[in-house]
This record gives sequence, structure tokens and C-alpha cells, in this order.
Amino acid sequence: MVNIILLGPPGAGKGTQARLLVERRNMVQLSTGDMLRDAKASGSPMGRRVAEVMDRGELVSDEIVIGLIGEKLAAGGGGYIFDGFPRTLAQADALARLLERVGQRLSAVIEMRVDDAALLARITGRYTCGNCGEVYHDVTRPTAVPGVCDVCGSTDLRRRADDTEESLKQRLLEYYKKTSPLVGYYYATGDLVTVDGLGEIEAVAAKIAAVLEGQGD
Ligand code: AP5
Ligand code: MG
Repeated sequence: MVNIILLGPPGAGKGTQARLLVERRNMVQLSTGDMLRDAKASGSPMGRRVAEVMDRGELVSDEIVIGLIGEKLAAGGGGYIFDGFPRTLAQADALARLLERVGQRLSAVIEMRVDDAALLARITGRYTCGNCGEVYHDVTRPTAVPGVCDVCGSTDLRRRADDTEESLKQRLLEYYKKTSPLVGYYYATGDLVTVDGLGEIEAVAAKIAAVLEGQGD
């Protein structure tokens, strides 16, 4: 089974590419950001605890996200796309242990490189479908009919509470301080592959597909 990490700053296109891999390769997207937003929306005690931290653009505790991923992996399977996890060295170590426990291994860590100016443009123009999760952008990927999701027809299109310029600044700081050391970590384990994330969505998808071709299924 191919299991990959999509590693990159906010707006790099992790979620967009993960959704394409789910559709085209039947992989399983594990996005800690989506799981935390679901918890927040449900109003559960954990959701209430993480809401403010997320909206400020800070990382939630390792314990919470490792717990979320541990639950998903325990259900069995494989073909995972880790989207937005791990984000700290402690999370990377925990993932190695969790994968070993379920007899899975990492196939590749795909680092998506995008410069800060492009990240700002992507984040401030993003909106998603509240029903099916499809990701759009005001300029580069608008819905065909304004206000209506192309995929499911829902009119529940939303912007994220942390997609503001101020919160993005904090998210970038967190990325460079706490997550970018993972680039060195996975270089050392031999798993790192870097792709240019600046091209069109399909051009980036082709680069990721080429990496996966080298992995077999
Ligand atoms: P999370 O939801 O993971 O957010 P993020 O890492 O900030 O990344 P984004 O989802 O903003 O960006 P993306 O790379 O998925 O880009 P997308 O494809 O949407 O985390 C949110 C928060 O949750 C964190 O701040 C933290 O508080 C908490 N959290 C989550 N995981 C955690 C963890 N492991 N540990 C601790 N805390 C955690 O694309 C963005 C936009 O660009 C879209 O509009 C899209 O249409 C457009 N776009 C995409 N690709 C292209 C392209 N090639 N060309 C042009 N436009 C493009
Ligand atoms: Mg995302």
C-alpha cells in the first residue's frame, strides 16, 4: 500500500491534491485540519478547546492530533494521504510508531514548495463547499455557477475563520518554526521528494503522480 505525507505551508495545495488522489487512486485522505474543524463544528468539548487556537493560526497540541490520527489508523487499511500531519518532530515520531503498529510504512513525503506571495493570494481567495468539501478559489478555480458547488450543487459555500491575512502570518510562522524541520528529518530518512507547487493544479498533480508511479501499489 502506498502511504504518503503531503508536506507544505498553508495554501500549498495539500487539500486540493489530496482530493484528486482520493478520486483518481482511491486513496484515503487523513487531514487533521478537517478533523479539527469537524470537532469545532460539532461543539464537542475538544472542538471548543481547539477553536480559538486554530482561529489564531497556532498549532493545537501534539497529544490531540496524534490521538485523532491514531484512531483513524486503528480502523485498519492503508493507502493513506497524510494532509497537514505531521507538523512537529514529535508528531513525526508518533506517526512512525503508529504505522509500524499497523504494519504500514511510509512510501514518500512530498514537500510542496510555494512562495509566500502565492500562498497569500491562494489563502485569501479560498472557499470550500460546506457539504462535500470541494475546494475553490475566487480567481483560479471559481464555481461554474456563482454560489453553487460544481460537485454536489450545494449553496453552502464557506470561508475558513483562519483564512485572514493576520492568521495566515501566524500560520506561516508556525510552519517555518515547527514544521519545516520535518524537511530535514525526512531527507535524513530518505523519504523526501520535493515538488514545485507553483504550477497549475493539474501540472502539480502530474508531478505527484510521477512520484507515486515510482512506488508501485
Ligand atoms: P490545515 O487545515 O491543515 O491548514 P493549513 O496547513 O494551513 O493548510 P491549508 O488547508 O490552508 O492549505 P492547503 O495546503 O490544504 O491548500 P488548499 O489545497 O486548500 O490546518 C488548520 C489548522 O488546524 C492549523 O493552523 C492548526 O491550528 C490546526 N492543525 C491542523 N493539523 C494540525 C497538526 N497536525 N498539528 C497541530 N495543529 C494542527 O489550497 C488553497 C487555495 O489555493 C484553494 O483556494 C485552492 O483552490 C488554491 N490552489 C490549490 N492549488 C493551486 C494551484 N496549483 N494553483 C492555483 N491555486 C491553487
Ligand atoms: Mg488543507
